Amino acid sequence: MDKYIINGGNKLYGSIDIQTAKNSVLPILAATVLTDDKVRIINAPNITDAKNMVKILSRLGCKAVFEGNDLIIDSSFADNHEIPSELAHELRSSVFLLGSVISRFHMAKIAYPGGCDIGLRPVDLHLTGLKRLGVEISEESGYIVCKCDKLHGNEIMLDCPSVGATENIMLAAVKAEGVTIIKNSAREPEIEDLQRFLNCMGAKVRGAGSGTIIIEGVKKLSGCEFLPIPDRIESGTFLVAAAMCGGEIEIKHTCAENISSLLHKLRENGCKIRINNDKIVLENNRRLMSVKSIETQPYPGFPTDLQAQITALCCICRGQSIITENLFETRFKYVPELRRMGADITVINRNAFVRGVDGFKGATVVAHDLRGGAALVSAALAAEGRSEVLDISHIDRGYGSFEYKLRMLGGDIVRVTV
Ligand code: EPZ
Repeated sequence: MDKYIINGGNKLYGSIDIQTAKNSVLPILAATVLTDDKVRIINAPNITDAKNMVKILSRLGCKAVFEGNDLIIDSSFADNHEIPSELAHELRSSVFLLGSVISRFHMAKIAYPGGCDIGLRPVDLHLTGLKRLGVEISEESGYIVCKCDKLHGNEIMLDCPSVGATENIMLAAVKAEGVTIIKNSAREPEIEDLQRFLNCMGAKVRGAGSGTIIIEGVKKLSGCEFLPIPDRIESGTFLVAAAMCGGEIEIKHTCAENISSLLHKLRENGCKIRINNDKIVLENNRRLMSVKSIETQPYPGFPTDLQAQITALCCICRGQSIITENLFETRFKYVPELRRMGADITVINRNAFVRGVDGFKGATVVAHDLRGGAALVSAALAAEGRSEVLDISHIDRGYGSFEYKLRMLGGDIVRVTV
């Protein structure tokens, strides 16, 4: 189990590159099963979730090799439609594979992806959508078993704009017979990126980002080379860390448009933000003002994946804030850890009530999930004194070279293997 040892108090200065988006690369990796040609994912992020998805693809018979920072997938030898349970539990988003594996084999079997650190994570919308495309689904001792004679297009109305359900249905529909229309689809930038990737392979998908996606089934998809969009959540995580520590940082190869809801809040806090094409500079050298309220919403609302980070920032602002988590049931597990660092924060149901304090005090805290762990690291960097952040394997799931990039900016952070 690795941990971070952090000596807080340094301001952050300098410039870092943003990785390609974890939440783009995962469904794109699932989509590689749809072709027998090679696919090159340029600058794939060096994160555990991507490595676990590659492990699952290998168990399906796909060949995956890293060539420098690029990841090359060859699915021509894929011959297995069962996704191993130990890996399905390790990587919840392996459920995206259902759509592409059914499309290729007309069969799929995956262990029921249970809940996780942030909530129940049901998959009912995924399964309802797949059934509309002609998939027969049964549940056998903890497994989801799917089969179909032929996938056919249909109209699907999602009860809520689920990112995963939208992606799973897209993957099943691109080679189905006929047209599929997904209404009330998720509008996240990663959905548009998946559309761009699928069309790069020869699919006919349009409307991503609008809330209604139209897919005309095609017979065959070919390989391609593809550079996924920047990781908007990594971008936001570093900007919030700089806002908390003070200083001036530049993040490069990012996309300000995809985190405009966060930038709006950070400006309201009092941060100076300059945008220049794919670069964002954030400067802050004073105690920030609280924002009254922040509510997480599906895109383009405030992203749930930045909720923990902005809450940690609110803890050391002047004034009070209310943060409401509308998407997941238990996404405040990091709060007791922040309290250990001196935060004045109370959670009632889906609301966190924060009273700003002058600053955090160093402490030993535990990461319980990916984004909560990242928030604790930022709090420790801003704190007075020494902190330890334990169980950082959660953070490794979504942040490549996290401590390296923070050290580049002047953060006093080292990884220790215990
Ligand atoms: C994706 O998860 C992201 N993961 C999550 O990022 C992100 O927090 C989430 O979208 C929301 O933006 C990946 O893309 C790999 P959802 P997903 O389906 O697809 C309910 C991170 O930190 N729902 O949009 O699982 C669900 O309970 C991760 O990078 C159903 O009710 O999220 C939740 O309340 C964490 N039935 C809401 O929809 C379903 O069948 C949003 O979930 C599916 C979802």
